[in-house]
Amino acid sequence: MGRDFVYVILGGGVAAGYAALEFTKKGVARGELCVVSDEPVAPYERPALSKGFLLPEGPARLPGFHTCVGANEEKLTPNWYKEHGIELMLGTRVISADTRRKTLLTATGETITYKYLIIATGAQALKLEEIGINGSKAENVCYLRDLADATKLVNMMRMCTGVNAIVVGGGYIGMECAASLVMNKINVTIVFPGSYCMGRLFSSKIARYYEDFYESKGVNFIKGTSLSSFVFNSEGKVTGANLKDGRYLHADMVVVGIGARPNTSLFEGQLTFENKGIKVNSRLQTSNTSVYAVGDVASFPVKLFGDTRRLEHVDAARKTAKHAVHAIMEPKTVSDIDYLPFFYSRVFSLSWQFYGDNVGEVVHFGDFSGTKFGAYWVNNKRLVGCFLEGGGNDEYVAIANAIRLKPVVLDLGELERAGLDFVMAV
Ligand code: FDA
Ligand code: NAD
Repeated sequence: MGRDFVYVILGGGVAAGYAALEFTKKGVARGELCVVSDEPVAPYERPALSKGFLLPEGPARLPGFHTCVGANEEKLTPNWYKEHGIELMLGTRVISADTRRKTLLTATGETITYKYLIIATGAQALKLEEIGINGSKAENVCYLRDLADATKLVNMMRMCTGVNAIVVGGGYIGMECAASLVMNKINVTIVFPGSYCMGRLFSSKIARYYEDFYESKGVNFIKGTSLSSFVFNSEGKVTGANLKDGRYLHADMVVVGIGARPNTSLFEGQLTFENKGIKVNSRLQTSNTSVYAVGDVASFPVKLFGDTRRLEHVDAARKTAKHAVHAIMEPKTVSDIDYLPFFYSRVFSLSWQFYGDNVGEVVHFGDFSGTKFGAYWVNNKRLVGCFLEGGGNDEYVAIANAIRLKPVVLDLGELERAGLDFVMAV
């Protein structure tokens, strides 16, 4: 059995949806494009799973958050793909790829042939077993990567009102899920080995603000240690956790967010890798000229900082996807990708955005006892990054514009005194 397409997108997540939309904008013909995804639903805005999807009242549900609503573009429902003559192969897992023969093999034995392939396979949640702890399969242990995980988490939350949850990990998933659990009236203890939450991005001062805020909502932080094992009942449900520092925590449910790993194994030994991802050039093209990689799997050149990065954030997925399609469909007019790293989160009534790079010296500004504050990062006398909680749209636009210019900063004290006025005046 075989299917033949000009363009194939492997993966059905954020990047796939944005790539599909871009293909239609560039005039792809009916029957030329195929999206292959092992998920049972059409591409959706994954960030909704840890936010709107988990709300106790009026939660977001599909088809409400199919791509590309997150960027105020069209909503690509399954019908949209049909109307545009795009083959959407859902529930279809690709089990091997041959970049020399330009073929993919599905779990059902079908061979898909392409002229151009876009790899958009994203990442998977790291499992507890990978750090030596058993229990991932217990019915009250939840991860959060896809719709099935989010549905399990919602069902657990409904059954667990008023009881205790342990959140393992103090990164994005841990912090966003902890807020949702609290909103669903569940008592939360977060456990992670670092000395403060969101250690990959926050300064300790920023982290302190969020930890205090969470504590005011009843969340308990246990830092500087991690899980050593779970305790199970006779039905195999987790009833508690032993920590490495000797403490024991009772648990009615557990949410795990200990990091992610890019889904690249199909291409090991066939393409060039960097930063645990598939290395691409400034046109998102891999070491094989017919194959492009976008989103969480792509390690791409970030011109602004003169290096190659793999970013696990939705804005990068959207923009790398769009750029790859431009490069494939209009190679003569495409320029090198020039991406400004952008991350955000929303929890409780809080909302922050970050642009650039968090390296160098940190200069905090604003009112850390109020609702609007932030931080700059200055590296080699240049402003390279900015975090802002509680900003308005014009301020975030000003930050993005300023960071792109990397203005010179000679006096950190002056920068601190100027606060947001500094970027507003750039
Ligand atoms: P994505 O994971 O979206 O899609 C990959 C697709 O490939 C999936 O459909 C998968 O099933 C499929 N696939 C993989 N292997 C396959 C195979 N062998 N065969 C067939 N299909 C296969 N970022 C941010 O900036 N702000 C935010 O608020 C959030 N919030 C957030 C919440 C949650 C719960 C998660 C898990 C992640 C976020 N993110 C985020 C990160 C963001 O969602 C992420 O960077 C993008 O989804 C990456 O898009 P991709 O398309 O690369 O992967
Ligand atoms: P993460 O890397 O943000 O956080 C991992 C956390 O696990 C860290 O706090 C780390 O200290 C902790 N940890 C590591 N080992 C541990 C251990 N043994 N015990 C307890 N804690 C341990 O990863 P994540 O939160 O799992 O997020 C997964 C993916 O989803 C990432 O790609 C992330 O970018 C993405 N995501 C992004 C957003 C956003 O951008 N707003 C939101 C949700 C998810």
